[in-house]
Amino acid sequence: MMLSFKLPLVLALAVPATAWDPFGHQTVGFLAQKYFTPQANKTISSLIGLNPDFDIGDAAAWADTVRDKDGLPWSKNWHFINPKGDNPATNTCFLSYPSDCPGPDNDNCIISQIMNQTSIVLNTSYPLHERRQSTMFLLHFFGDLHQPMHTSGYKYGGNLVRPVCWGKVPPCIEYINGTIPYSRNLHGTWDSAMPRKLRNLPAETTDEENKAAAISWAQDLYDERAMAQEVDVWSVKKVIEYAKESNKLVCTNAMKGGEEWVLNQDLSKEYYEENKDVLANQVAKAGLRLAGWMNGIAKFLGDIEGNKDKDFLGGDL
Ligand SMILES: *[C@@H]1O[C@H](CO)[C@@H](O)[C@H](O)[C@H]1NC(C)=O
Ligand SMILES: *[C@@H]1O[C@H](CO)[C@@H](O)[C@H](O)[C@H]1NC(C)=O
Ligand SMILES: *[C@@H]1O[C@H](CO)[C@@H](O)[C@H](O)[C@H]1NC(C)=O
Ligand SMILES: *[C@@H]1O[C@H](CO)[C@@H](O)[C@H](O)[C@H]1NC(C)=O
Repeated sequence: MMLSFKLPLVLALAVPATAWDPFGHQTVGFLAQKYFTPQANKTISSLIGLNPDFDIGDAAAWADTVRDKDGLPWSKNWHFINPKGDNPATNTCFLSYPSDCPGPDNDNCIISQIMNQTSIVLNTSYPLHERRQSTMFLLHFFGDLHQPMHTSGYKYGGNLVRPVCWGKVPPCIEYINGTIPYSRNLHGTWDSAMPRKLRNLPAETTDEENKAAAISWAQDLYDERAMAQEVDVWSVKKVIEYAKESNKLVCTNAMKGGEEWVLNQDLSKEYYEENKDVLANQVAKAGLRLAGWMNGIAKFLGDIEGNKDKDFLGGDL
């Protein structure tokens, strides 16, 4: 199948869940690359086939370009998890894995797919194009996992918490051709409106502007936070822990006063001020943890290079 490497237009209003703006995903990719070991830089670069026209930022944003019917539509639900017990109105944020992951084998959610895609990258009997695709899914899913609304079951990750006010005084009934635009729901506010405000980006930008914004945000996050490299454990426990942490932020921050509280304020004001550091922190963690994961993958693949007989998936996956 031909893969499309064009960057997505962020216009979709599909329910559930879109994703960090491309520039958010690109930032996670560029930031992770700064923490890659030389071995990981080499392995990831050759697995994906990185080149000046398709860099780590493009690779991290790629999965959003293949969610529709012309791409890999079955991957649509792999970008999030919608826990059934979530109800921020009663301050209940509760994620249970695997039971909150739909599908016959509880495989149709972001946590299972991080594990599935990892096992494909690690298994050298898969064709290279599949391992390449799985590597790019991983770059993307680590970003999504850290967007709190991607781990919330409340109204499809906040896609149906709408219309929210942004730069306007409530009430904000703002229909465009009979629908409320994606940018006017809570999910889209976290994906796009907040990071754009944080980085002084207007609502619409060209691919070049997105890329430049991502490179500079990644650099700033790297400079501001001398965070140590985390251990590279590939255990599903780690992924569940990241998801639970993200899910909790819905109750402590994103929806801490419930739905009416969200709808009855201008989110670009106090709400934004209260949450902008949370958001930047999540992006920073996504980059750092992704790097830890990829460094682990590269080490593993490096080890089996010299030890082809080893049962390399028999371990602690
Ligand atoms: C990692 O690879 C990229 C190209 O893919 C290169 O620009 C960068 O300098 C490399 N970083 C390190 C630490 O080797
Ligand atoms: C794992 O990912 C592959 C490729 O992306 C996909 O074909 C397969 O259905 C997935 N398996 C599960 C159990 O989701
Ligand atoms: C509304 O729909 C009409 C007809 O499809 C289209 O020409 C117009 O651009 C739409 N307006 C907006 C703001 O999307
Ligand atoms: C690697 O993939 C091959 C082909 O799909 C499969 O037969 C094999 O069981 C996998 N290896 C492991 C250790 O899972």
